[in-house]
Amino acid sequence: MISPVLALLVSFLCHCVIAGRTCPRPPEIPFSIVVPLKFSYEPGETIVYSCKPGYVAQTGMRRFTCPLTGFWPINSLKCKPRVCPFAGILQNGAVSYTAFQYPNSINFTCNKGFYLNGTDSVKCMEDGKWSHPLPNCSPIICPPPSIPNFATLKLLKSSVENSSSYQDTAVFDCLPHYAMFGNDTIRCTEHGNWTELPECREVKCPFPTRPDNGFVNYPANHALFYKDKAIYGCHETYVLDGPEEVECGKFGTWSASPTCKASCKIPVKKATVLYKGQKVTIQDNLKNGILHGEVISFFCKNKERKCSYTEDAQCLDGNIEIPKCFKEHSSWAFWKSDAASKQPC
Ligand SMILES: *[C@@H]1O[C@H](CO)[C@@H](O)[C@H](O)[C@H]1NC(C)=O
Ligand SMILES: *[C@@H]1O[C@H](CO)[C@@H](O)[C@H](O)[C@H]1NC(C)=O
Ligand SMILES: *[C@@H]1O[C@H](CO)[C@@H](O)[C@H](O)[C@H]1NC(C)=O
Ligand SMILES: *[C@@H]1O[C@H](CO)[C@@H](O)[C@H](O)[C@H]1NC(C)=O
Ligand SMILES: *[C@@H]1O[C@H](CO)[C@@H](O)[C@H](O)[C@H]1NC(C)=O
Repeated sequence: MISPVLALLVSFLCHCVIAGRTCPRPPEIPFSIVVPLKFSYEPGETIVYSCKPGYVAQTGMRRFTCPLTGFWPINSLKCKPRVCPFAGILQNGAVSYTAFQYPNSINFTCNKGFYLNGTDSVKCMEDGKWSHPLPNCSPIICPPPSIPNFATLKLLKSSVENSSSYQDTAVFDCLPHYAMFGNDTIRCTEHGNWTELPECREVKCPFPTRPDNGFVNYPANHALFYKDKAIYGCHETYVLDGPEEVECGKFGTWSASPTCKASCKIPVKKATVLYKGQKVTIQDNLKNGILHGEVISFFCKNKERKCSYTEDAQCLDGNIEIPKCFKEHSSWAFWKSDAASKQPC
């Protein structure tokens, strides 16, 4: 049996405890956690602070008991981020960072001519270690270049023995009869491989056709190939329209197809004309006519002003058009003066 006096005492004590002041939610400390975390604590209840993963406690108490006063004691706990090993130097490269501590990342880049052997970024982890091994910058090396089919290596600029480094070049030539498609120069790239190889393809051109009134000479072979040449010429009084020498191009066609153009007889018996800057007469100097492309200037009269002017006529493949203003005198009209002797207008 419990005596009524004892019951009273117990109830009084309980009342006292209940009447003690409760502690509020404990103050927040950066990067820490509190166990247990509640909105209020009875006096005598205990809490423990600990730093979050990646942080370490530096100074101060970590365990507290709610006192009867209901005020948590002053807490000087500090949680500091974990620090990873120094990583601020990268040979032949650069590191960008703000701090080597949790939870920061740092980035790596290499100088020109070097490649990043490893990861380009590491993170400082909760345990104070880097997420990956630190990279290094290794020189870019290309293997010896392969030689395209039907090509020869003309030039290899190589700064390392038996291999090439970044930006080194190699130049190719195609064998005779082969034309190059692509760039003749390849370059060692930042990926340690070469830019695309060119291709050498055999190229044939058809035999050139002989021009009318002319001829064409070419090598007496069973076929004509890239860079072979043919020489054109014309029979007398014909003029070559186009280059004398043509070349077989990389697309299997000749650089030009010249033709022979006829010269012009001048359908005028007597006249003074300008020919190559000289005053000459047709009857004395141009009996055989003029060549294709050549120009002569006829003199015409301006009756009102009693003066003369010239108009041009060009020989185009056997055809020449005499200017309409030109008047040929009958040979018996000796008293008529030649337009060429008049004052120029
Ligand atoms: C690292 O690179 C990332 C992605 O490019 C960028 O967001 C970050 O700011 C860089 N960090 C530093 C420290 O430069
Ligand atoms: C890349 O780096 C590792 C060490 O981090 C090294 O053993 C290796 O030789 C390097 N590779 C090259 C191609 O330099
Ligand atoms: C380069 O190649 C030659 C012949 O293949 C070889 O004798 C020489 O040892 C090589 N040099 C290096 C540095 O590998
Ligand atoms: C060929 O490659 C070289 C080097 O990469 C470059 O300088 C040049 O412009 C290229 N030529 C052509 C025709 O693309
Ligand atoms: C060189 O390597 C890079 C990266 O692997 C690749 O993208 C590129 O296509 C390669 N170039 C050639 C010409 O193979």
